Amino acid sequence: LRQSIAEESKAGGSIEVQENSSITEHLHFVFAQAIALAFPEYKDTPVSIAPVNSASAKFGDYQCNNAMKLAKQLKEKGINKSPGDIATEIQRNCPVSPLIEKLEVAGAGFVNVFLSKNYASQALSGLLRNGVKPPPVPKRRVLIDFSSPNIAKQMHVGHLRSTIIGESICRLLEFLQHDVVRINHLGDWGTQFGMLIAHLEDRFPNFLNESPPIGDLQVFYKESKKRFDEDEEFKKRAYSRVVSLQSGEPNSIKAWQLICDVSRKEFQTIYNRLDVSIQERGESFYQSRMLSVVEFLRKKNLLEPDEGREIMWPDESKTGIPLTIVKSDGGFTYDTSDMAAIRHRLEEEKCSWIIYVVDAGQSTHFNTIFKAAERCGILDRAVHRVDHVQFGVVLGEDGKKFKTRSGDTVKLSDLLDEGMKRSLNQLESRGRNDVLTPQELKDAQEAVAYSCIKYADLCHNRISDYIFSFDKMLEDRGNTAVYLLYTYTRICSIARNSGEDFSDLAKVLEGVNIDLSHEKEWKLAKTLLKMHDILIKCSNELFLHFLCEFCYEVCTVFTEFYDSCYCIEKNKAGEIIAVNRSRILLCEATAAVLRQSFFILGLKPVAKI
Ligand code: ARG
Repeated sequence: LRQSIAEESKAGGSIEVQENSSITEHLHFVFAQAIALAFPEYKDTPVSIAPVNSASAKFGDYQCNNAMKLAKQLKEKGINKSPGDIATEIQRNCPVSPLIEKLEVAGAGFVNVFLSKNYASQALSGLLRNGVKPPPVPKRRVLIDFSSPNIAKQMHVGHLRSTIIGESICRLLEFLQHDVVRINHLGDWGTQFGMLIAHLEDRFPNFLNESPPIGDLQVFYKESKKRFDEDEEFKKRAYSRVVSLQSGEPNSIKAWQLICDVSRKEFQTIYNRLDVSIQERGESFYQSRMLSVVEFLRKKNLLEPDEGREIMWPDESKTGIPLTIVKSDGGFTYDTSDMAAIRHRLEEEKCSWIIYVVDAGQSTHFNTIFKAAERCGILDRAVHRVDHVQFGVVLGEDGKKFKTRSGDTVKLSDLLDEGMKRSLNQLESRGRNDVLTPQELKDAQEAVAYSCIKYADLCHNRISDYIFSFDKMLEDRGNTAVYLLYTYTRICSIARNSGEDFSDLAKVLEGVNIDLSHEKEWKLAKTLLKMHDILIKCSNELFLHFLCEFCYEVCTVFTEFYDSCYCIEKNKAGEIIAVNRSRILLCEATAAVLRQSFFILGLKPVAKI
């Protein structure tokens, strides 16, 4: 059979598979070549490859469905060719690829692709030998603006979402070998600092010599706001402190730093708990660059007076909402700092991709910034990519905005504490405290608590709102972190309990070929090999729920495999009589794929749970 396919395919020559290539990407090359050969005038048609649902395995694993559209296009030119004939011509012109077992034309003009077991077995051996490696992609320098809470204000659940999603995007793009710059665009600048500084001067006159003991910065903020609203004298002094701060007067700078430090420490404890790393580059960083971007826009004649302000329209038609670049009192705004920031990121930082992980409520703001940046020549979409990775709001179990019982905003540290408590309760209710050592129990508690909070956020399409529910996220069935962590731990224990040594996989592989003859072995292998497709899809679309769904699929397909394929056979006395090394290697490959996916999602697997 292979012979005859090779004969048929000669027209297309042959093609090599790049190491760690995504299967879908490879098939794109295969079919792009075939279409170019068979229908040269359509050589630039976008190739359309879709995975075939595993329930219809008789139709192959992937299919190319370009023939239908080509038939229509040809018809418009007066050429009558059936999609089936077109599909046959495409098939004939496909280059021979080691990845493809056979090609079949079926139905309304699909070319069905059956993957090669031989290829799959080798790819899995490579994965076991070298670890999970990223698929090859063109490298970019990419800046990810995420978390970005505001000094002196509560870091709320919206910032938590940005922190979790942003961290995972960083990990994903780092794994794909991009040059990633992680930026915390802190709200650390602006008029509110005038009143905070003035209030600090009154409350802690000795602040220059001794760090002020501000326990609760939110209370401090509220006090100063109250005075600002009620006391004219105070208000005047607050304004003058804004001016002195922006001009770099040392005492005001010192006061500002002290205030920022209080918030900074709070934020850092959250980042440590969630294992997030990020570099601070707040709005204040752009002060001098705001001055120069204003000059830049003025020179280009893009600023217009408007009731004392200076505004900029995102495009010539003057529709939409203009940016306020200079306020009537001469100060700058959120818009100004984002114009300065995008310019710095593209021109000085030399990034070609910027990702803003910010709630959906700011989508107009970012659209306007992107358009304005294009209009003034900072942003060139032919070379730069900019994304507003937006996300919905967090709701309580009542479907209303997430609040504490008393109606206050939820403090993130309290929320994480609650997660820790619930996770311990759950482990204790399973009696794990009797089995695990205190250290193992603590590790499991942290793994479950933080993983479930992160996973609950990541596993839904981020654009929709999501309901925060500890009960739901701690369920051990369904697509939850708890289910994934348990399954992973179970998979890892199989090799451990086999009585054989699987610590050096390269060595084990010397004597074993991964056998995929059982239907469930084959299904598991094909599922694992989808990982590269998924990673590329996630990075193209910046959605992590695809990776979560993939993890869940890996776990369920693994369970199917494990239910019908013995890895270790025991006799009635419970003694091991046979070890199927090939299958244990499949278990290890599954564990490796999950481990890498978990890392990207920020889930921490533990050896015992
Ligand atoms: N500090 C802002 C907020 O809390 C988010 C900043 C997002 N980044 C940016 N470049 N505008 O809403």
